Amino acid sequence: MKRRYVGAIDQGTTSTRFFIYDHDCNVVAQAQREHKQYFPQPGWVEHDAAEILHNAYEVTQRALTKAGLTSGDLAAIGVTNQRETIVAWDGQTAAPLGRAIVWQDARTAEICRALEKKHGPELFWRVCGLPVSTYFSAAKIKWLLENSPAVARTARDGRLMLGTMDAWLIWRLTGGRHGGVHATDATNASRTLLMDIQNVAWDEEMLGVFGVERQWLPEIRPSCGVYGHTDPNGPLEAAVPIAGNLGDQQAALFGQCCFDAGQAKNTYGTGCFLLLNTGSRLARSQGGLLSTVAFQEADGAVSYALEGSVAVAGSLVQWLRDNLGLIRSAHEIEPLARTVADNGGLYLVPAFSGLFAPHWDAKARGLMIGLTHYINKGHIARAALEAVAMQTWEVVRAMTDDAGAALSQMRVDGGMVENELLMQFQSDILDLPVIKPQNTETTVLGAAFAAGLAVGYWSDKQSLRAKAAVEKTWRPTMGQAQRQRRVAAWLRAVERAKGWLV
Ligand code: G3P
Repeated sequence: MKRRYVGAIDQGTTSTRFFIYDHDCNVVAQAQREHKQYFPQPGWVEHDAAEILHNAYEVTQRALTKAGLTSGDLAAIGVTNQRETIVAWDGQTAAPLGRAIVWQDARTAEICRALEKKHGPELFWRVCGLPVSTYFSAAKIKWLLENSPAVARTARDGRLMLGTMDAWLIWRLTGGRHGGVHATDATNASRTLLMDIQNVAWDEEMLGVFGVERQWLPEIRPSCGVYGHTDPNGPLEAAVPIAGNLGDQQAALFGQCCFDAGQAKNTYGTGCFLLLNTGSRLARSQGGLLSTVAFQEADGAVSYALEGSVAVAGSLVQWLRDNLGLIRSAHEIEPLARTVADNGGLYLVPAFSGLFAPHWDAKARGLMIGLTHYINKGHIARAALEAVAMQTWEVVRAMTDDAGAALSQMRVDGGMVENELLMQFQSDILDLPVIKPQNTETTVLGAAFAAGLAVGYWSDKQSLRAKAAVEKTWRPTMGQAQRQRRVAAWLRAVERAKGWLV
C-alpha cells in the first residue's frame, strides 16, 4: 500500500516533537515531550542525549498511535534539531560520554579568547563565516577532549564519535552500533566552526586549531536526500527512509518557503534567529552577522543565508516564570505587559549568555536599567517583550547596513508570534510589515518538506509555496521620533551590559 504520510522529528532546545503530515500539509497528529535542562554552574547548560533519544522514540510512537498509524505508513522522516549542541558517544557501547553541551553554554569563553588571540578573528570569519564564540560546537569539543576523561580515553581507544543532535539521532535511528549512519547535513555542519563554508567540507586547518580528528565527525551530506532507513529491529519496527535533515533555523526558512534570494524569516524560539536567503552567493557581513548554509539540495547545489542570532528571547519569558515567579505560565506575559501603558523608562538587556549578533561579546551580562519607585512587574514584562523586538531590530539594522541586504518585510514564526503586543511592537520598531503564516510550526514543516521532496512525495519546491498562506500582517503605527528615542535608549542600555565580566 502506498505510504501516505510524512513525519518529522523536531529536536529542540527544550523539547522533542514529532509531527505527521498528509499530502496537503495538514497536521494529522503530533506529540511533544520536554527534556530536563541541567545548569550545573553559572553559564553552563547541558542535556542528556539518552533522554532525548528516548523522547524522540516516545513522541514518534505517541503521534503514530494518535493518528491510528504505524511507522510503515510513513513515506519518509525528516529531522531538524537545535544546532551547535554537541554530543560525544562511544561507538562501541552506543552510550553518550557525559551530557551534551548545549549551544547556550558559555563555559568555553576562555578557550575562545585564547584562540582568537592566537589566530586572530579573521581566520574564523574567512573559513567558516563565523566568529570564535562559545555558541558554536568546536570549542565545546575542545573542552570535552581536555576536561572529560571518558571522552579523552574513548578518543585514544579509537571509539569516539561526535556530532550535533541530528547526527546522534540519525546514527541511533538507523541502527547505531549495528551499522548506523554517521552523517550530518551542510546546515548543521556550517554551525560547528569546523566547516569550510565555501567548499562545504570539514576544514583541515580548523580541525587542527581545535584538535579534532576527522574520523570522529559525521559525514556532511545534503539537507535533502536519503540518509538511511530506520532500523526495523528497533523501536519503530519498520524501515522508513530518513530523507531530510536541517538545523532548526534553516528548517524554518525552508518551511516558510523562503527558497529564493532576498527572502527572510525570524523565528521567536528560545532565542531569536533571523535568516536572509542570499541564494548561491556566499554573503559576508561587515556587521557581525553569520554566513551560513541555508540548505543543500540533493544534487549538491548550496543556498546560503546571512543570519542574525539572538541568544535570549523566549527563554527570557521562561526566566521571568521560573526564576522570578513573575508569571505562572508563559502566556501570562502579554496580559501582564498590558497592565501598563508603556515600559515606564525600563530597559532589560537579557545578556544571560553574553551577547550574540551583532555584538559577539561573551563578557556581557544581563541588566535592567531605568528602575524607579514607579516601576512594577507590568513594566518588567513589557521591557522583556520589548527586549526581544529590540534585539531583532539590531540584527535587521546590521542586515540593512550590509550592502544589498535590505528587507522590505519580515516573515515570522515560533511560539512568541502569538503575542500580539510583541508583534505590533516589532513592526513599529522595525518600521516594516511583519507577516505571520497560517502554519507557524515552520521548523518541523521544513524538515518534512525536505524529506518529502527527497523521496518524491512532493514533486518540487514550487508546489509547496501554495501551503504557505498568510494569516496576519502587522503594520507599523509608531512615529519616527518615538522610534528613534526608544532605539537610542536601548542602545545605551546595551552598551552598559557589554564587557561586564572582568
Ligand atoms: O542555534 C540554536 C538554535 O538552533 C536553537 O533553536 O528553537 O531549539 O531554541 P531552538
